[in-house]
Amino acid sequence: MQDFLIEMLECPACHGELIWKISNRTENRIEEAEAVCKNCKAVYPVQKGIGIFLTPDLPRNDFWEEVGSQLAQFLQKNPLIEKKLMGVPLNDLNPADQNFRASILEERGKYFLAKATIDVALSKTYTPEYLKCFNSQIDYLIAQLSSFDCPIVDLASGRVEFAEIMLRKLKQAIIITDFSPRILYRNRKWLEFFDLYDKVSLLAFDARRTPFKDGAVEVMTTNLGLANIENPGNITLELRRIISGKFFAISFFFQEDDEENAKIIKKFGMDKFLFKHSALKAFRSAGWKVKVENMMIGKASPTPKGKVIEEGVLDALPVSDTRLEWGVLTAH
Ligand SMILES: C[S@@+](CC[C@H](N)C(=O)[O-])C[C@H]1O[C@@H](n2cnc3c(N)ncnc32)[C@H](O)[C@@H]1O
Repeated sequence: MQDFLIEMLECPACHGELIWKISNRTENRIEEAEAVCKNCKAVYPVQKGIGIFLTPDLPRNDFWEEVGSQLAQFLQKNPLIEKKLMGVPLNDLNPADQNFRASILEERGKYFLAKATIDVALSKTYTPEYLKCFNSQIDYLIAQLSSFDCPIVDLASGRVEFAEIMLRKLKQAIIITDFSPRILYRNRKWLEFFDLYDKVSLLAFDARRTPFKDGAVEVMTTNLGLANIENPGNITLELRRIISGKFFAISFFFQEDDEENAKIIKKFGMDKFLFKHSALKAFRSAGWKVKVENMMIGKASPTPKGKVIEEGVLDALPVSDTRLEWGVLTAH
């Protein structure tokens, strides 16, 4: 993580001041350190350049912790399936299996091939309308962000689909965050390989309990991040505590009368940010001024399931054909 972050951070558990013991650093980066809370004595390490500010009390399902290694282990035990996935022409695989092949290529350090494979897979995984709406939100948000000078904090960055675009198109420092240290370490290797790591800091924290001081973040973004947060609780209040400027969330919303998808969304408690009405309500009730900009509607279909990796699922939603309303939720 870059040095300038020290000024912005506090204990995520009790908001106490952090005392830093840095054991390994480069010119403007901390590689290995410990930040100890003066108040509650909690210890937060910096390892492999990643600041880890996870508190023990919040339950979390780290999907990345499970998935990455599971697929590799499965292929190791099933060499015939490995051959069917990795040893055939790419076009012989369906888009889901192409995505799985890309993650294995990446785990093996074949980054160029992995990236080319993802590009082929993506164009067939989603409907043209889905991709058109998504790309329009990206272009819109990049244009908005270009007028700011401050570092940008990206929430629930995942495999940096959006953060990577920011790094390629914007000049600002980007703070990439997720509650999974494993995905952040993957991101470090990926971004170093593509020569995009210079402006990056990596922070592991739970979006519901962040390590930022009050008002320390001027601009925060997230690409489809809010809806991925299980049991989001009072996250809009936490965001309001730390953001002094603007929050931008690339989002899609399901229609209120889409009963088939709504049933699953509600079953998994994901309704807060997947319906426009409740998303806006969650922000307004935490004192934000909020609107959805660049709105457009496009058809979306369930993502295909794997054939080689039988029943391997990419996106959990939608479960049936639907029309999604896209936009950039903008709050200040
Ligand atoms: C699929 S990604 C969203 C797409 C991503 N923003 C991109 O541009 O590629 C969602 C991420 O949210 C993370 N996540 C889920 N719950 C979280 C939480 N409570 N705090 C922080 N990150 C969380 C997951 O680990 C996952 O990597």
